[in-house]
Amino acid sequence: MLSERVGCIDAGSEYCPCYLAETNDCLICSHLQGKSFCDCNWSGVCIYQNFYWYGNKKSDIRTVVEGRIIEKKKVHEEIVIFKLKCTKTLARQLKQPGSYVFLRDPEKPYFFSVPMSIMDSDENTGEIHIAVQIIGPKTKSLLKCKEKILIKGPYWNGVLGIKNLKTTKKENVLIAARGIALAPSVLAIKYLLKNNNNITFVIDAGKLGMIFVNDYIKDLPLKTIQLNFKKEEGIKEFSNILEKGDYSLVYSAGSDRFHKRVEQAIENIGKNMKFVISNNSHICCGEGICGSCSSKTKNGKVVKMCKCQLDAKAVLEGRKVNG
Ligand SMILES: Cc1cc2nc3c(=O)[nH]c(=O)nc-3n(C[C@H](O)[C@H](O)[C@H](O)COP(=O)(O)OP(=O)(O)OC[C@H]3O[C@@H](n4cnc5c(N)ncnc54)[C@H](O)[C@@H]3O)c2cc1C
Ligand code: FES
Repeated sequence: MLSERVGCIDAGSEYCPCYLAETNDCLICSHLQGKSFCDCNWSGVCIYQNFYWYGNKKSDIRTVVEGRIIEKKKVHEEIVIFKLKCTKTLARQLKQPGSYVFLRDPEKPYFFSVPMSIMDSDENTGEIHIAVQIIGPKTKSLLKCKEKILIKGPYWNGVLGIKNLKTTKKENVLIAARGIALAPSVLAIKYLLKNNNNITFVIDAGKLGMIFVNDYIKDLPLKTIQLNFKKEEGIKEFSNILEKGDYSLVYSAGSDRFHKRVEQAIENIGKNMKFVISNNSHICCGEGICGSCSSKTKNGKVVKMCKCQLDAKAVLEGRKVNG
């Protein structure tokens, strides 16, 4: 079951208070949950006070902007890398690890919006890079975009346990990523390097069989190791790396089953390491409203994983994921 200690990725940002404050469903503030007392554990600027100053209304909402397609490069049968021009402000907001946007073909209705991680972002040029694996109706529609693409963002909850990642400085860090989840690893690597961490990047090319992030990591000071988590010897090699490396943080980017394998390897060697994972929830509105990303907490409370920060282990336990 999931732990009860929830955080909100948007708390204190320019998008707080949100719709959930207006409906008395704020994840953090007890007043904005309809209670008459204050018992939040939020140490930033009071969310209730901000709500009051906004005239008992939410703050501004994220808008849809038209992005220009600078480049659309098919690097694999199933993967297309989009280089998009947006505003410099949006590119800066999307530098955080876990950042993602909703992309949509301008010719298609709103329900074609699809969450996509930011692989790289340049605030000086206002450019963002996104790797899209073409699977079903929403991603196929992106492939048809020629000059423009609609971008809605910034959203940040692509990493669960983000506080652990952001507070890790001058440590040994291990990042394990598989398949299309190599894409969000790039921002995390850049952030961790800025905080003077030593990084070992364990890459599993997955079913795609291709390491499409090479151009993004080739000049970075990190150690890369390639292995296959689906093979016994791959898991063994991974356990060896974990055992020898004195890592204080492990970031797993892949499916929930992949996370579980990484988690089990950590548990087997019995060392204490911070564990963070990519967020694999089904995200549709990203605003805590539609409910597609809902998970139940230990006490049966429904939380929206597009907004909610929960402990990575508790998330996997709640979803009853097997390795
Ligand atoms: C925060 C986040 C970041 C992501 N980053 C990337 C990325 O960088 N590159 C990339 O290729 N994909 C990424 N994805 C996954 C991508 O959103 C799905 O592959 C896409 O929604 C599939 O839609 P479809 O219509 O093409 O395929 P469908 O046939 O509808 O679905 C194919 C698979 O994608 C899952 N899926 C469908 N809709 C969603 C949704 N709204 N949210 C999450 N999963 C969904 C389905 O369960 C199924 O497993 C990300 C998802 C999330 C939540
Ligand atoms: S995606 Fe709609 S509530 Fe989370």
